[in-house]
Amino acid sequence: MNTDVNTDVNTDMTTDQIARTFVEYFEERGHRRISGSTLLPTPGDPVLFTTSGMHPLIPYLQGRPHPLGNRLVNVQRCLRTTDLDEVGDRTHLTVFEMLGTWSLGDYEGPVSLDWGYGLLTEGFGIDPGLLHATVFGGDDRTGPDTASLELWQSHGVPVELTVEDNWWSNGPTGPCGPDSEIFLWTGDTPPESTPTGDDRWVEVWNHVMMRHLRLADGSLVPLPQRNVDTGLGLERLASLLQGRRSVFECDVFDPWRTLVPALWQLDEPSLRLVCDHLRSAVVVIGDGVRPGNTGRGYVLRRLIRRVLTVLRRDDPWRGLGDLPDELVRHTLDRFRQEEEPEVVRRVLLDEERGFGRLLERGRNVLARRRFQGPLSEEDFHYLHDTHGLPRDLVLSLRPE
Ligand code: SER
Repeated sequence: MNTDVNTDVNTDMTTDQIARTFVEYFEERGHRRISGSTLLPTPGDPVLFTTSGMHPLIPYLQGRPHPLGNRLVNVQRCLRTTDLDEVGDRTHLTVFEMLGTWSLGDYEGPVSLDWGYGLLTEGFGIDPGLLHATVFGGDDRTGPDTASLELWQSHGVPVELTVEDNWWSNGPTGPCGPDSEIFLWTGDTPPESTPTGDDRWVEVWNHVMMRHLRLADGSLVPLPQRNVDTGLGLERLASLLQGRRSVFECDVFDPWRTLVPALWQLDEPSLRLVCDHLRSAVVVIGDGVRPGNTGRGYVLRRLIRRVLTVLRRDDPWRGLGDLPDELVRHTLDRFRQEEEPEVVRRVLLDEERGFGRLLERGRNVLARRRFQGPLSEEDFHYLHDTHGLPRDLVLSLRPE
């Protein structure tokens, strides 16, 4: 086993076992499991994809009674395009699973943090000396979160106080509040510095004291109940517990890391991008999305096109027809999706063919004399509106 990362854990637990341990720990503490739902938010929701476990629970955080009670736990698949540029680093994926817990007006933040500490140290065996917390230090509207601070002090966990980094919101309006984040030291020296000062501190678990509502005019009002919303990325936790250097090395990527390099020779950043985007595309297709020019369909289209661009950079003959069925099947199973692998494959191949035609058209149009010099905004509009060539594609087809 790889021991480059000093979490002093190196568990043999698989990602599935880690998720099960998490859910059972909270079930033993009175939580009911809600079924993890699709990446697609309910109709009428302006957000394209579910971005965190709390997303489907917004009405209940705002006071609607939940049919399963006021202590909930789940495993929710999420998609974040805000992290797209960070994909390929050690800790970010486009599609990932988020473990989450909620107190809907029941217990308060310190209880949640205390259970979190117990699960990480006793349940998963993390050395308490490798933990660091951050806590909201207060601003001109909301006081410091002294309850969380005291809880961490009672466990001897060092705390860093911040302002912006410890305020969580899902967007400009809606439920929000101060949060306390738990970090794990991943360096191969004894822990040093603080989470904002050294990126060897990796965030594992966020506990949000969700008790405010931000209105459209920017003002904050109290929610009808004091909630706690917690979330932790499953693949990230698994990679840390398994002592791996990045999320791409945790067990859920084992088949990807075996089969993809055998198929296409890629440098490490390209390999990570191809694995991340292809896996994400399979899940998005598995939830019923098809490539298109707007909204969710365009997110899917961009994921597939980025894969194709990277693959063909070194060899124009590379294509998705070679993608092993096993990877599609493994991903659909992992995300408990029922779509037929053959359907996913067909969507990928149709999109690949369409992209090939578009590239050919793009090359022909851009060869015209009119487009030889620098392109104006008007040119970009014309290329987009008349020839269906998006700006990023045009740029990728032009010589440096
Ligand atoms: N909503 C918080 C997050 O996404 C905690 O679940 O980090």
